[in-house]
Amino acid sequence: MEKGESTVTPWEVKGEVDYDALIKQFGVEPLDDVLLERLKKQAGFLHILLRRRMFFAHRELGDWISSYDKGVNAALYTGRGPSGNTHLGHLIPWIFTKYLQDAFGSELYFQITDDEKFYVNPDLTLEEIAGYTKDNLLDIIAVGFDPKKTKIFCDMEYTKELYGIAARVAKHVTFSTAKAAFGFTDSSNIGIIFFPAIQAAPCFLPQRLTGKDAHILIPCAIDQEPYWRVTRDVAPKLGFRKPAGVYSKFIPGLGSGGKMSASLPETAIFLSDSPEAGAKKIKNAFTGGQPTIKEQKEKGGNPDVCVIYSYLYSLFDEDDKNVMETYNQCKSGGIMCGTCKNRLAEMIKIFLTEHQKKRADAKAMVNEFMLKG
Ligand code: TYM
Repeated sequence: MEKGESTVTPWEVKGEVDYDALIKQFGVEPLDDVLLERLKKQAGFLHILLRRRMFFAHRELGDWISSYDKGVNAALYTGRGPSGNTHLGHLIPWIFTKYLQDAFGSELYFQITDDEKFYVNPDLTLEEIAGYTKDNLLDIIAVGFDPKKTKIFCDMEYTKELYGIAARVAKHVTFSTAKAAFGFTDSSNIGIIFFPAIQAAPCFLPQRLTGKDAHILIPCAIDQEPYWRVTRDVAPKLGFRKPAGVYSKFIPGLGSGGKMSASLPETAIFLSDSPEAGAKKIKNAFTGGQPTIKEQKEKGGNPDVCVIYSYLYSLFDEDDKNVMETYNQCKSGGIMCGTCKNRLAEMIKIFLTEHQKKRADAKAMVNEFMLKG
């Protein structure tokens, strides 16, 4: 793959992702100041993931907010494919979804695609996936969604409701459309070829369950966008509104280049890592620093390629002045990598300790959240 080239599909993210190019390629809109202002007005504050442009693109977010203003059921939909333990990257869309649920008082539909991960992962058994589902559910609940307004369901279990909707969707999607959107080939198994209809189904689930109009907004990272492109084409044919979407960038792994991914465990912060193990991974991470302290002082570091700085900037350091200072000091050689690593490692320790407490509490709450088939 050439420098600057990338592949972004729901199952593979490779190369250096150029987000401006993706906006054009996927035909989505950049998140602009007008929309940020509307979100700020509704929520009472602008979430760090918006302020620092981790969420960077959308489809018809403004229309979704207008639906809410008009009293339409403005609901949220997001999900998880349980192929392993949850990592920090997965949490990004969920933290943001909670912000939106709090701001708009929205219902949230949360899909666990235990079928998808079986189709795409040659080595995973259904039993292993069921184990990850149980485990991942605790991380999802630990985010703090409102149990009265949040409905979580697994495809393998909630099949009866989902299948009826998926069949209606699938009838309107040709194989050539699916090939163009997802890159399927003759050697793709037929399970995954049908699967996009299952991931589309929750966009129309509230309407089916209530018999009333609803407008869905999907917060997720940009890799999931091909699903929504296909779903949006079908929606009017079934008499429903097109789902809106709001999309984040990928949090990078701790190595040099690439998104955080469970397939590279040393470069991912898993929510099940002990706080000490998490801190240790941070201390071993790739930075934008020079090879020696002397060179760092003379030439300065490069925060633009530094994973540590990117975590501070995107998620962990809320203080705008502080984060700018870190940037400038790094560039001028006034700060060493060890200082930034230690700071972030402490933040990660606190974050994991708190998350794991909430995860333990979540065990007693699973039934409250689940939609059963
Ligand atoms: P999954 O389990 O691969 O990922 C869960 C969510 O995390 C996002 N994501 C990331 N975000 C930021 N940085 C990263 N490094 C990173 N890696 C993953 C994904 O975009 C996703 O939002 N097919 C889906 C499950 C699903 C779904 C949905 C997701 C079903 N319905 C509706 C979003 C919205 C999947 O396997 O996600």
